[in-house]
Amino acid sequence: MTGSVIATPRLHLAPLTVADVSDAYVGWLNDPAINQYLETRLSPQDHASCAAFVAATAADPQSHLFKIVRQDSKAHIGNIKIGPVNAHHGAGALSLLIGDKASHGQGYATEAIAAVTDWAFGTLGLHRVEAGCYDANLGSLRAFLKAGYVVEGFFRQARVDAAGRRVGMFWMARLNDA
Ligand SMILES: CC(C)(COP(=O)(O)OP(=O)(O)OC[C@H]1O[C@@H](n2cnc3c(N)ncnc32)[C@H](O)[C@@H]1OP(=O)(O)O)[C@@H](O)C(=O)NCCC(=O)NCCS
Repeated sequence: MTGSVIATPRLHLAPLTVADVSDAYVGWLNDPAINQYLETRLSPQDHASCAAFVAATAADPQSHLFKIVRQDSKAHIGNIKIGPVNAHHGAGALSLLIGDKASHGQGYATEAIAAVTDWAFGTLGLHRVEAGCYDANLGSLRAFLKAGYVVEGFFRQARVDAAGRRVGMFWMARLNDA
């Protein structure tokens, strides 16, 4: 749940609402190239399931879900979420997708991760934001590292990938210790 809007040099991050659940959004979640490293692939995704997820997350005080919008084209290119947040420990998880393939490889994930992490430190008062990625998801790993995250661990054979193989997972975090 958040009412915050975050502006970065090239992006506009605003609360994701049920009205943002477009055919394109549902399509991202059903695209094997996009969902291969996402847990969402494990259950069928349609307009109703996406809308239910957005509504439930909006009602959850421990989660903050933003749409990622390019300033140049005004296109909604993906989503980014902080949550769940553990207020006692000042820690939260971050996850994202850039679903619009035409927007890949242009630094948008890096820019969104850095901005939402700074927001979590400054506005939510978190001390630590953490994230995991499958070992083959080198784009995600690189984006988090470029956004100031450090690899803290490698979980061996922690997940089963889309091809049914056991794969490892990197665990990364950034601390508000500047
Ligand atoms: C992974 C993902 C977030 C990367 O988004 P992006 O906007 O393309 O990432 P960036 O442009 O910020 O790239 C960051 C770095 O990773 C590199 N990179 C991007 N995709 C890559 C890939 N498939 N393989 C290797 N490196 C890659 C970029 O070149 C860049 O490094 P550089 O600046 O040294 O050249 C995006 O592809 C995505 O959302 N994929 C589907 C969902 C997903 O995997 N989400 C993350 C779950 S943990």
